[in-house]
Amino acid sequence: MYSRRVLLFFVLFFLVAFAVKTGNPNPPSYLPTPYYSLPVSPETNDTVALGRLLFYDNILSGNNQVSCASCHNSYNAFAHTDHQLSHGIFDSIGTRNAPALFNLAWKKDFMWDGATHHIDAQALAPLHDPKEMGSSMEELLSKLRSSSFYREEFFNTYQDSLINSRRVLQALAAFELSIISFDSKYDSVKEGVADFTHQEVSGYKLFDQHCSKCHTEPLFTNGEFMDNNLPVDSSLDDKGRFLVSKQKEDRYKFKVPSLRNLSYTYPYMHDGRFAKLHDVLDHYASDEQNGCDRKNDLEKPIVLSFNERADLIAFLLTLNDDRFVFNPTYSFPEKLKNKLLED
Ligand code: HEC
Ligand code: HEC
Repeated sequence: MYSRRVLLFFVLFFLVAFAVKTGNPNPPSYLPTPYYSLPVSPETNDTVALGRLLFYDNILSGNNQVSCASCHNSYNAFAHTDHQLSHGIFDSIGTRNAPALFNLAWKKDFMWDGATHHIDAQALAPLHDPKEMGSSMEELLSKLRSSSFYREEFFNTYQDSLINSRRVLQALAAFELSIISFDSKYDSVKEGVADFTHQEVSGYKLFDQHCSKCHTEPLFTNGEFMDNNLPVDSSLDDKGRFLVSKQKEDRYKFKVPSLRNLSYTYPYMHDGRFAKLHDVLDHYASDEQNGCDRKNDLEKPIVLSFNERADLIAFLLTLNDDRFVFNPTYSFPEKLKNKLLED
């Protein structure tokens, strides 16, 4: 009788320990040092909680209908899957696909072309963009200052009632930096607590051979701007990194995106042109000349057999982190629901 109770105690202890581990994943030891320090504990850090409210609140847009989450949906690893190009205020169509948001602390610059260098400044871009949120910091501050809900939230966070742009941007950045994803099967294998199947092992080898130069482990991006030879969409003619650096050799280079959470982040590429991973692999296999005499960073087309493709995709799917995508600490905050009811 006694030993059964002891056994039950141990079972419960491990269940709780496991739940705590999975609910709040800390970055594993095999990661490089991040550029930004991570908020201490997402659940208790007030700046993170305030940032989460702002991230989900429509008052950030000129017509009170668009929030950051309209384009960055937690259930899509904070990407947007309904549209190829982003849709903002008054249904305006942007020029690029909304990227997934996770592991941002490891990024030294932001946007497909690296136009923003610091996460604290990043939110100003969508806020002011007439096709995204069509508002301004000034307009937002005046809305926040006249809201008793936010006056209280800022007071609770900062112990005084000052509402200024620095605090708004810091809070948004704190929430964004708290969004981390390192709880995939790949990570469990790295930690020695799971094994790849034969198919995944074979896919891993193919990945290593063909993709890892740019999509480098463990973030699955080397953080660089590269040209993966996508044919130019003449209606957009997006020259990517060139728009920022003005260097001719940067034409059509884009930030190498992470390959974590691909099952949630489609459509793919800076303009969302591919809906499926098979379309992506068709692209890498094609030797189609992009018609504009440019040197790209792929040495040669990556041609894989039917079986090799299946293996590579099996490996890529081990990079999905379902617990991250469904982690309630990142989803729409309950508190905001009450606020919207009162508004
Ligand atoms: C209308 C859709 C839309 C809205 C609203 C929006 N974004 Fe974005 N977001 C995008 C698009 C599109 C990009 C890529 C822009 C580019 O590359 O030029 C982006 C890029 C980003 C990035 C850079 C990610 C990276 O890996 O480089 C961050 C961070 C971000 N958004 C956060 C936010 C925050 C915070 C808000 C709210 C203040 C917000 N976004 C509102 C569409 C949107
Ligand atoms: C020479 C560097 C390079 C190599 C090699 C490479 N990629 Fe990419 N990959 C990129 C760049 C750059 C982008 C973004 C291009 C864009 O959007 O214009 C990208 C985008 C992607 C995307 C879209 C992700 C998203 O969120 O939109 C997928 C999927 C992808 N690559 C898979 C692969 C696979 C699988 C391999 C190996 C078979 C591979 N890549 C090899 C540079 C590379």
